Amino acid sequence: MYAQLVKTDADKVKSLEEMDPQERRFQERIDDDQKIEPKDWMPEGYRKTLIRQISQHAHSEIVGQLPEGNWITRAPTLERKAILLAKVQDEAGHGLYLYCAAETLGVSRDALIEQLHSGKAKYSSIFNYPTLTWADIGAIGWLVDGAAIMNQVPLQRCSYGPYSRAMIRICKEESFHQRQGYDIMMKLCQGSAAQKAMAQDALDRWWWPSLMMFGPPDADSVHSAQSMAWKIKQNTNDELRQKFVDQTAPQAAFIGLAIPDPDLKWNEEKGGHDFGEIDWTEFHEVLKGNGPCNAERMEARVKAWEDGAWVRDGLSAYADKAAARVAAE
Ligand code: 3HC
Repeated sequence: MYAQLVKTDADKVKSLEEMDPQERRFQERIDDDQKIEPKDWMPEGYRKTLIRQISQHAHSEIVGQLPEGNWITRAPTLERKAILLAKVQDEAGHGLYLYCAAETLGVSRDALIEQLHSGKAKYSSIFNYPTLTWADIGAIGWLVDGAAIMNQVPLQRCSYGPYSRAMIRICKEESFHQRQGYDIMMKLCQGSAAQKAMAQDALDRWWWPSLMMFGPPDADSVHSAQSMAWKIKQNTNDELRQKFVDQTAPQAAFIGLAIPDPDLKWNEEKGGHDFGEIDWTEFHEVLKGNGPCNAERMEARVKAWEDGAWVRDGLSAYADKAAARVAAE
C-alpha cells in the first residue's frame, strides 16, 4: 500500500527480518490490529512521530479557533452566533483531548506549548488565512471541517489507543461542524445575488488551501510510509485529498457554486475527479511562516498564554496546598 510512497522513506521502513526481537513483536501487534497503550513497549520512533502528529493536531485545533472566533461578535443572527460559539468551544475541547493524548507519551503540556510558540511545532496551514466575510465561516465549516473529517475518520483506527479514542470523540462533533458550514453556504446561495457572490468569493479563496490540509503529495511525504507501517496513518495524503474532492464537488454543484479549478472534471475511467495542480510553493511558504496571518495567529496565542499565567499559577498553588494538606493527614 505504501510502496508507492517516497522511496527514501519506504527504504527507511524496516522489514520484519531487519528488526530486533522486541521491534518484531511490536510490529506483529500492529499488524494484528492490537491497540498500543501508554505503558506498552514501543520503538522511540513510534513515540516521537506520535508526539509530533498529535501535538500538531492539537495546536491546529487551538489556533483554528482564531479565524472563526473573529466572527462570533459579528454573526448575522443570534442563532448563528450560538452555533458558532458552540463550534469554537468544541475546537478548544478537541485541542485539550489531543494534548492529553500527547502527554500520555511522556511529554509535558508546557513543552508542547513552547514548541508551538517558538515555531518548532507546526499547526495546519489552513489557519493562516484570513476570514474576510461571514461566508468564510460557512466555507471553513464546509471545506476545512469537511477536510478534517476526511482525514480524522481513519485516525479513529490509529494503532495508538489514546489517539484513536480521542478521535472517536472528536469525529462525533466534527460532522455538526461541517453541516452548519454547508448550511450557511446554502442559505447564502438561496439569498440575494450579493449573498451568493459572497459565498462564491469564499469558495474561491478557501478551496485550494483546503486541499493543502491533506499534506504534500505522496512523493514528498516524509512520514507517510512509516506512519502507515505503524498504522498511525491508514491512507496516503493523496488518497484522502482525492476522496475529499470527489465528495465536495457535487456539494458545490448542488448549491450552485463553481469550484475555482478549470481542470476539475469527472474521469469515468478513474472513478474520480481529475483536478488541477496545487500551488505547493504557496503551501511551503505558509509552512515557513509567510502566510497571510501566521504572525497574527502566533501573537494571539502567545498573548493568550501570557494573559492566562495567573490562572495557571493560582490553580497550581491551590493544587500544591491541597496535596500538602493530604500528605499531612
Ligand atoms: N499544515 C502544516 N504542516 C503540514 C501540513 C499542513 N496542512 N501537511 C503536512 N504538514 C507537515 C507535516 O507535519 C510534516 O512536517 P513535520 O515533519 O515538521 O511534522 C511535513 O509537512 C511533511 O508532511 P507528511 O505528509 O510527511 O506528514 P504527516 O505524515 O504527518 O501528514 C498530516 C500530514 C496529514 C497533516 C498528518 O500529520 C495528520 O493527519 N495529522 C492529524 C490531523 C491534523 O492535524 N489535521 C489538521 C487539521 S485539524 C482541524 O482542521 C481541526 C478542525 O476541527 C477545524
